[in-house]
Amino acid sequence: MSINADSSKTLAGTPAADATPAVAELDTIVSLAKRRGFVFPSSEIYGGINAVWDYGPLGVELKNNVKRAWWRSVVQQRHEVVGLDAGILMHPQVWKTSGHVGSFSDPLVECTACKRRYRLDELPGTGDLTTTQLADAEIVAKMGLKCPDCEGSLTAPRRFNLMFKTFMGPVEDEAAVVYLRPETAQGAYVQHKNVRDSSRKKIPFGVAQIGKSFRNEISPGNFVFRMREFEQMELQMFVRPDEAATAAFEEWLPRRLEWYTSYGVSPERLRMREHAPDELAHYAKRAIDVEYRFPFGWKELEGIHNRGDFDLSRHAAESGESLDYFDPATETSFTPWVVEAAAGADRAAFTFLIDAYREEVVRDEKRVVLSLHPELAPYKVAVLPLLKKRDDLVEMAHRIRDGLSREFTAVYDDTAAIGKLYRRQDEIGTPWCICVDVDSMDDNAVTVRDRDTMEQERVSADRLEEFFLAKLRASRP
Ligand code: GAP
Repeated sequence: MSINADSSKTLAGTPAADATPAVAELDTIVSLAKRRGFVFPSSEIYGGINAVWDYGPLGVELKNNVKRAWWRSVVQQRHEVVGLDAGILMHPQVWKTSGHVGSFSDPLVECTACKRRYRLDELPGTGDLTTTQLADAEIVAKMGLKCPDCEGSLTAPRRFNLMFKTFMGPVEDEAAVVYLRPETAQGAYVQHKNVRDSSRKKIPFGVAQIGKSFRNEISPGNFVFRMREFEQMELQMFVRPDEAATAAFEEWLPRRLEWYTSYGVSPERLRMREHAPDELAHYAKRAIDVEYRFPFGWKELEGIHNRGDFDLSRHAAESGESLDYFDPATETSFTPWVVEAAAGADRAAFTFLIDAYREEVVRDEKRVVLSLHPELAPYKVAVLPLLKKRDDLVEMAHRIRDGLSREFTAVYDDTAAIGKLYRRQDEIGTPWCICVDVDSMDDNAVTVRDRDTMEQERVSADRLEEFFLAKLRASRP
């Protein structure tokens, strides 16, 4: 199958210009996230630190669920893929060999008046510039670009390396410099042989990894979209060269797109965009981004790259260790090529959050609902007593919550009237609420309310665990 990466079309074939964001204003999500405990600014009592965000009680559940869903789809369900958890700090030579020390940079311009710094390609009017144009030392003068804040003159662009540095050991000199990894991928390349030998994998096989990465972004922003500390979920497929790599690329692209839609992202707000030759990263032979229609425009969600033998050849040459694969069938050796599906855990969680957001009017009242996929929802079930002054109802509600929490996240709440409790759970995406009422004392049954339909049904308290497990299993892609 060949991939249509026409950037002017969404997946559904609708012209991209027609796709409207799920929420008009990013602030709607930012304020919900803070109010309900999804995401807080880091170190807020000290005024915060730019581009670092902390996940609160609900956010950590959501992001863990996103990572679990990714791992299930990419590792657990694929016999040819295994996992790895490499260190954040690596031998500094890794980053010289990989090209990051030399090439992992963005074009930076500075205002000569107010001293603010900008990424050149994020200045107003530069959106359509090609990578070659962005590398032109005269581009600021040619386009008459000015500081967006104070209209001051801007310097010519210079390359700014995005890697964070620190020192290893007690002496802070050049020889002790190590880098915080800017991608997880290199761990899989330098451990390629250990993984292959220990897991007895034959090519094609994959190595998946989830972990923190760090980039000293010039212009971070848009909430958790671009951060300086973030988490990646990256798959490296080691494949035969040339056509086999092309085939793996074309297999993984639709598979990765489908992962987002299977967890509820609207296909109209997803599209693929192929990188122009001069836009390709230093390692890539071909790259297609999966993009999402965020409230601030179409932006990258995940990158699928054909990296050729760039990484393994360079690490082999530099380390002196052969990373070639001996194929017993043909009795030949070759350097595997890499096809990579590189996603961001924060960006994916953010996307699921935005895309699930709905506002509707029910009985003349505004209802905010996060229609999160049940597998992603922070809490699967909320257990709510109708009357908090009735000890017997409260005791039964606690007993139900404790029982269910063996299998999934369940929360107890009695701090408001039932209608308000339902609304609170709707707003954080809890798919099902259980109301323990006076009748429950007689019939040992409870009312289960569905978040999306608001329909209610009576279920025996003894059957609740199997009832919800069946629902969760049925919802799983
Ligand atoms: N190993 C290849 C690689 O790192 P990338 O396109 O630079 O490729 C992959 O990054 C994914 O990581 C992006 O699609 C995005 O989801 C996430 N990501 C990259 N930089 C990020 C940042 N500053 N903040 C949040 N997520 C980021």
